[in-house]
Amino acid sequence: MTKRKPLIAGNWKMYKNIPEAVGTAREMVKLLKEPPNAEVMIAPGCVLLNAVMREIEKSCISLGAQDLFWEKEGAYTGAISASMLVSAGCKYVIIGHSERRQYFAETDRNVNLKIRAAIDSGLVPILCVGETEIQRESEETFSILDKQIQMGLKDFSCDELDKLVVAYEPIWAIGTGKTATSRQAQDVHEYLRNALENTFGNSLAKNIRILYGGSVKPENIAELMAMPDVDGALVGGASLNADTFIRIVSF
Ligand code: 13P
Repeated sequence: MTKRKPLIAGNWKMYKNIPEAVGTAREMVKLLKEPPNAEVMIAPGCVLLNAVMREIEKSCISLGAQDLFWEKEGAYTGAISASMLVSAGCKYVIIGHSERRQYFAETDRNVNLKIRAAIDSGLVPILCVGETEIQRESEETFSILDKQIQMGLKDFSCDELDKLVVAYEPIWAIGTGKTATSRQAQDVHEYLRNALENTFGNSLAKNIRILYGGSVKPENIAELMAMPDVDGALVGGASLNADTFIRIVSF
């Protein structure tokens, strides 16, 4: 099986102001002397994108956003369009993060529209899926993931999804210090790849990158990356510090 090029992505969430973001990005570029085996991306808050882009543009670190709105333009106060993100230098956009679903009432239908907007603008969407602790305990993990994948990717053709990245982020592992074991991650990633194969065929399923997210740190990245269906990580807290993130990237 062809090994997919890993992607290690940092989700900065609602942390850092402009000077702090510039400082961290600058330090990351300095620490990342050798191009790593993985592709590297950081996703700062929207207001920080431009300043961070200036720091990373000559490096191998790509820029990502944490969300977008699906309309092209219009009277949508506070919203950010795909075109704005492209013009700021973004290559990736995270879509459907559990925090967006929880605090901003984002539904699978919204996620589907956002993926459409991203793809139509040439952005690479990172579709986040994951179950809560209660859902895991009541053995609903796979049915929840099925629903998130099927509804999020409804009406897309295989060709349109050829660059899509999926991130499995069990909600119980986000920011809790409780990482899924590499076995738990592998079981879910394998399940997701099979589900994608059933809907979109083998060629898409074998090329798609499935990232793990939830308390990833320098101490657990190697074990997670040793799993055949783990193709990278979506890192929250540990991506805020340049030294820690670069240690993860160089797993
Ligand atoms: P933590 O790495 O802080 O657990 O966050 C994971 C996450 O939500 C990345 O999107």
